[in-house]
Amino acid sequence: MRYGLLDLAACQQCHAPLTPLAAAEVPSEMPQGLQPAATRVAPGIGIGPVAPGARDTPLNAILRRHARPPAADVAGNFAVEIAEGRLVCGDCGRWYPIAGQLPEILPDHLRDAARDNAILRSLAAAMPDEVRGALAPLSPRADAADGGAHYKAAEMAIASKVNDPEFFGPGYSVPFNPWNPEFSLFMVAVFGGVISVMKPRKTDTVLDSGCGYAWTTEWLHRSGLRAIGIDITRVYLEIAVARMGPSRPHLIVADAESLPVQAETPTRCWPTKAFTTFPIAGARWPATIARSVRAGASCSPSPTRSTRPAPRRSTR
Ligand SMILES: C[S@@+](CC[C@H](N)C(=O)[O-])C[C@H]1O[C@@H](n2cnc3c(N)ncnc32)[C@H](O)[C@@H]1O
Ligand SMILES: [Zn+2]
Repeated sequence: MRYGLLDLAACQQCHAPLTPLAAAEVPSEMPQGLQPAATRVAPGIGIGPVAPGARDTPLNAILRRHARPPAADVAGNFAVEIAEGRLVCGDCGRWYPIAGQLPEILPDHLRDAARDNAILRSLAAAMPDEVRGALAPLSPRADAADGGAHYKAAEMAIASKVNDPEFFGPGYSVPFNPWNPEFSLFMVAVFGGVISVMKPRKTDTVLDSGCGYAWTTEWLHRSGLRAIGIDITRVYLEIAVARMGPSRPHLIVADAESLPVQAETPTRCWPTKAFTTFPIAGARWPATIARSVRAGASCSPSPTRSTRPAPRRSTR
């Protein structure tokens, strides 16, 4: 995760900005022009910077006491990424893991409390006592309002269910599927079709919600737009990181029905259904998008399902 994501991301629950607790960084050189300059680049691992607009809460007061100010040289945003650590919401007290360079900003009921608490414990030694004491372990909980929770859980667990060693192979070449050129070229054509309707501009931030292997996010990013890909299934984003390397858009493991972005962040929304034959889990997704995108933003229409040739292998 690059520090630039701090300017866009938020707590999925209360939408307050997040403070990084970076435990490990990795070198990750990326051309500077492909993303706007970041305002909250840290001068190395540690706590902060805290967002200037963060509310005066007891937890934010603790974080401010231990945080460093932003680095004077913001070029660091294009030189390193946070590989391991946490993102802390000083408003509601939630904390979210950053693991393998990917932030995970999931609602409580979709998190693996045992795994996330183990991450919290493993990073504890690197934290001042006051910060460590202020972060409560995550309690496992259900959310009765999320009627799609069991579909989401099934989607998130796909890596443990697939036995075919070739299943995830297309993620390394997507949208090009060498086993099915007709499908590859159909995907390219649909991308062009959506772009011709959406007409995004340089100043837009496009949210690619349910991005899978994030090839559409990648193409938007490589076109010069600020793009954020979110997907509930970590394995797809891991493959996206492996495919793209350092020069890639922001990616977040998150639920499209609990978007982890600041209210003013997305100005455009990429239509997941343009590239999917499955309805996205649950029914709250369109309303969540509508609430989260900036007033006047647009979601492009999607082509009809009947126009899509059947893939021969997974093309997520
Ligand atoms: C058929 S794939 C489409 C992937 C991508 N848009 C593309 O064109 O390649 C649908 C994706 O939606 C994701 N997904 C399903 N429910 C989701 C949710 N509630 N929030 C975020 N992503 C979700 C799945 O993990 C999957 O990657
Ligand atoms: Zn919060």
